[in-house]
Amino acid sequence: MDRRSYLEALGASGAALTLAGCTSTGGSDSGGTTTESTTTGSTTSGTQQTQIVAGTAPGFQPFEMMQDGELVGFDVDLLEAVVERADGYTLQRWEQYEFGSLIQALTTDKIDTIAAGMTITEKRKESIGFTNPYWDANQALLVREGSSFQPQSLEDLAGHTVGAQSGTTGESLIQDLIDEGTLKQSNYNAYPKYPLAVSDLENGNIDVVVIDTPVAETFVDNRDVVVSATVDTGEQYGFGVRQNDGDLESALNSGLQAVRDDGTYADLTEKWFASGGTTTTSE
Ligand code: ARG
Repeated sequence: MDRRSYLEALGASGAALTLAGCTSTGGSDSGGTTTESTTTGSTTSGTQQTQIVAGTAPGFQPFEMMQDGELVGFDVDLLEAVVERADGYTLQRWEQYEFGSLIQALTTDKIDTIAAGMTITEKRKESIGFTNPYWDANQALLVREGSSFQPQSLEDLAGHTVGAQSGTTGESLIQDLIDEGTLKQSNYNAYPKYPLAVSDLENGNIDVVVIDTPVAETFVDNRDVVVSATVDTGEQYGFGVRQNDGDLESALNSGLQAVRDDGTYADLTEKWFASGGTTTTSE
C-alpha cells in the first residue's frame, strides 16, 4: 500500500516535471529531448519509460560549453544519443552544476547521471558508479605562449603558481605535490571553471594550469597558451550513475555499445574533435 502510493506520487511528480521540462526547453529550436520522449512514449505503449535528468559542468571545451546561451558539446550529443538507444529511459533535461558539486547532486537525486568529462577513479567509485569508459585523457601542463617557464614534469612546478578547476583530477595531482612538500598551498589557485584559470594564466597571475589533455588542446587553439608537457595519468571518462541504479548503468552501457556499433560515436568524434584546430598552421 505504502509503496504503491509512493510510486503513484512519483508518477505524478514525474508528469509535472515533464511539463516543466517542455515549457523551459521546448522553444522553437530543434529540442531533441522533448520530441524524443513524446515519440518513445507513443511507440512503446505498455513499456514504462523512466525520465532521467543529466547533470554537467560547462566550461570544459569541447565536452560541454555554452554557445549562444545553449549548452553544447561532445558529452551533450553523446549522452543524448546513448539515452535514445537505452531501453526504458528518456532524457528529460540537463542541469548545470559546478564540477565539484556534481557527485552530491547525483547522490541526493537532483540528477540521475553525470556527463561531464568525469574521470573514473577509485575514490569516486566509493560514492557513485560509472558506465564503461567513453574517452581517454591524460593531464597537460598549460603555460603562456612564449613563456620562459616550460615545466617538463610535475616536480618542475615547485616554486611556481599553479591553477586547476576545483574538484578535478588535475587538482588532486596538485594536492599530492602539496602533501609531499613539493608545492606550497599558497601557490595553488583553485578555480570554479577552467576558462577562468586560463584567463589568469594569460594575464600572468599564475604560471601553469594542470588540465585534461583534450581540453588543453582546445585552449591552445583558441587562447594564448601552449602545452609544455603532458603527465601520463591514463584517465578514462565515464558517465556517473548512482550506485543503486544498476538498471540505468546497464541501459547506458548498451546505449554506448549501440552508438559505437552504428557509427554515431565516430560521427560525434569527427564533429567535436576533427574540425577545430587540427589545420592550424604553426607560426
Ligand atoms: N576529467 C577531470 C576529472 O574528472 C576533469 C573534468 C572536468 N569536467 C568539467 N565538466 N569541468 O576530474
